[in-house]
Amino acid sequence: MEVSVADPAERTLRIPDVVTAGMPLRDTRMRPLRDLRISVTDRCNFRCVYCMPKEVFGRDYAFLPRRELLSFEEIERVARAFVGLGVEKIRLTGGEPLLRKDLEFLVERLAALRTPLGKDVDLTLTTNGSLLSRKAGALRDAGLKRVSVSLDSIDEAVFQRMNGVGFPAALVLEGIEAAQRAGFAPVKVNMVVKRGVNDAQILPMARHFRGTGVEVRYIEFMDVGTSNGWNMESVVPSSAVVRCIDEAYPLVPTGRENPSATSVRYRYADGQGEIGVISSVSQPFCGDCTRLRLSADGRLYTCLFASHGLDIRAPMRNGDSDDALRRRVADLWMRRADRYSEQRGENSAARRLPKVEMSFIGG
Ligand code: GTP
Ligand code: 5AD
Ligand code: SF4
Ligand code: SF4
Repeated sequence: MEVSVADPAERTLRIPDVVTAGMPLRDTRMRPLRDLRISVTDRCNFRCVYCMPKEVFGRDYAFLPRRELLSFEEIERVARAFVGLGVEKIRLTGGEPLLRKDLEFLVERLAALRTPLGKDVDLTLTTNGSLLSRKAGALRDAGLKRVSVSLDSIDEAVFQRMNGVGFPAALVLEGIEAAQRAGFAPVKVNMVVKRGVNDAQILPMARHFRGTGVEVRYIEFMDVGTSNGWNMESVVPSSAVVRCIDEAYPLVPTGRENPSATSVRYRYADGQGEIGVISSVSQPFCGDCTRLRLSADGRLYTCLFASHGLDIRAPMRNGDSDDALRRRVADLWMRRADRYSEQRGENSAARRLPKVEMSFIGG
């Protein structure tokens, strides 16, 4: 079915047809909408140098007041609308999502959602792991399927410097083990690699997690937001990461799990598991990007590097029907043209706009 976006009246009429006919909604680059990443808070108990440097996110930083946050009921309503529009995967993020009180109650609501074809939604969570040993069991019981834990080093001095608050790596490792014991599989570990800061940890991290069932993903340091002092010299390209590990433990490339996945994977030739690399700087993957982000205050961002989000909290609180909400969202997606990582090297207009902070819309 051909969907015309030229005439607004036509568009309003035809979006529900597209959706009910089971056609995935597509943006201007023909990318379907598949993933929703929900930030439940903009606060975090860490101050990672690449995300919330403490010089910027200090004592007097103005975080969102409580009343500005979407309630669990509102988040569930938005998520339900998205699942009706083709979303198959939902990730809860922050800031640090486990700082949001009673998060397991939200998990329970979201775990109950089914796609139009009756399938479970792939429900997952990104966390810094600091509260995971305490919460893993309750999250699992509430129906969470997977977790990804951020850990940038297993060396205490390096990790404590990098998280900005001196939080011990040992406690994050306890959280990872608690997640495995609770039955989460796979558990993924995300390591942002910053040259001169933790690049000497590439191999120790691989060595530590080989054979444990944990998949380490090495992430290129990105120019998200406006406060992390990014420069190209600090980026270690994934090709160098793979070379470094392959020399010690031979790797076999296995590609992406699916075309829109962020990571390219490699398995250890000796059967001791897998690693992944996320190369948004050296090898952008915008071409198949199916991700939409919802901030804790109810704005929709069509790209991690966007400078503007569409407010859906106000219309929802002003009595928008579910159908009107779905139309708003569908309309946004059909206009989407983002491909920031592909434009990074260009002197484009998108490059010059102020960008939203990653702690505000989640990783
Ligand atoms: P899985 O389904 O578990 O593989 O998760 P994922 O890789 O989709 O999500 P995760 O939150 O673990 O992403 C890991 C990291 O990849 C993030 O923290 C970001 O650094 C980066 N990333 C995720 N999505 C995007 C994206 O859309 N664009 C860019 N440029 N980077 C992204
Ligand atoms: N570059 C790459 N990834 C980042 N994250 C946050 N800031 C950056 C950045 N500048 C991601 C990390 C972390 C998650 C919460 O957000 O993957 O694990
Ligand atoms: Fe917090 Fe995660 Fe950002 Fe670190 S990367 S400051 S843990 S939100
Ligand atoms: Fe998607 Fe934007 Fe990331 Fe490209 S830069 S992969 S469009 S979120």
